[in-house]
Amino acid sequence: MPFPIKEVRATYPALSDGFAYLDGAAGTQTPRPVIDAIATAYRTGIGNVGGAFPASHRSDAIVAACRAAVADLVGGHPDGVILGQNMTTLTYRLSRALAGPGDEVVLSRLDHDANVRPWTQTGATVRWAEVDPVTGELPVEQYAGLINERTKVVAVTAASNILGTRPDVPAIAELAHRAGALMYVDGVHATPHGPVDMRALGADFYATSAYKWSGPHIGAVIADPALLETIAPDKLASSPDTVPHRFETGTLPFADLDGVTAAVDHLAAMVPGTGNRRERLLTSMAAAEEHELALFSVLVEGLETMPHVTVYGKPARRTATAYFNVVGHAPRQVAEHLARLGVNVWSGHSYAWELTGALGIRDTGSAVRAGLVHYNDRSDVDRLLEGVARLA
Ligand SMILES: Cc1ncc(COP(=O)(O)O)c(C=O)c1O
Repeated sequence: MPFPIKEVRATYPALSDGFAYLDGAAGTQTPRPVIDAIATAYRTGIGNVGGAFPASHRSDAIVAACRAAVADLVGGHPDGVILGQNMTTLTYRLSRALAGPGDEVVLSRLDHDANVRPWTQTGATVRWAEVDPVTGELPVEQYAGLINERTKVVAVTAASNILGTRPDVPAIAELAHRAGALMYVDGVHATPHGPVDMRALGADFYATSAYKWSGPHIGAVIADPALLETIAPDKLASSPDTVPHRFETGTLPFADLDGVTAAVDHLAAMVPGTGNRRERLLTSMAAAEEHELALFSVLVEGLETMPHVTVYGKPARRTATAYFNVVGHAPRQVAEHLARLGVNVWSGHSYAWELTGALGIRDTGSAVRAGLVHYNDRSDVDRLLEGVARLA
């Protein structure tokens, strides 16, 4: 069954403003059920959690439902879902509990800086996995020489936020686990682009951000609750010491959490499916991935045939994310030109600090990123290609 793109687009009010939203990798638009869920939560009355009155009970229920929804999305356990402001903040917090001076951590140059700097700043010794700058691949073989008995954590992305590369995370995890190290997988870019099974990836920790998959600005890190029981993060004396609560700081944004649940339900319902929510998510996200990759081949082949365009990377397994430069135009100028034509793209390093350094373009404005998510259609791609062609 073809992906019902018209129906899916109709659920996103913002998409009717005439722009081609190819900036989804920096944050997606929000569908009506998410907007309604947040508004309803505020209209109905919510209190802080753990109180004796109905508005507080509603917040208790919102938090529990949100953990269950995020667990369904990634194939995790609801009691292992840590919620917070964003992936970066949660990763800073967890990195301090997981590694420190005297430990070793293995990081990759493919990663967004949010899965790099928090680890380098723990004081642990860093070992680097390098990227092939031509293909954009992260060769797995190098990990055997990087991981040893002192390795506490191997941090790696499930997909590059600029090249789209999907590295072989399960193979890296096998090496990490054999050495007794923990796998911290950044799923922020990968999650919106297809079905996720954090156990199949071998992720001890899987990080994701709801604003990349049609939800509000909330981050989550998911782990086995039994593993979380063994970790003691810094926390207030007065806050709960239970799991996952002891990993969360302050008061959660309850209305937004209701929006996260609505976003997961929305993703699960994009195509008709049967079974429980987890099963419907797997069906729906597989259909979304197929839709994105079919459009992406038009996009990337279109760019690659333009003599005035350089496209970075050609990884075998990837998300629908293109990173390119146009001869004679700075990346920001290209983005401004496309914005005038109603096409939203990102320009710059996009926090892929190590990777743009490895590609040798960080000091020259890096490049332009055009990414597809499930709500993009053929006209978005055509408008991008026409706009870039005009710069020849
Ligand atoms: C791959 C990747 N990791 C991490 C992050 C940081 O996520 P957050 O904004 O939730 O801190 C981003 C954000 O763009 C990202 O693309």
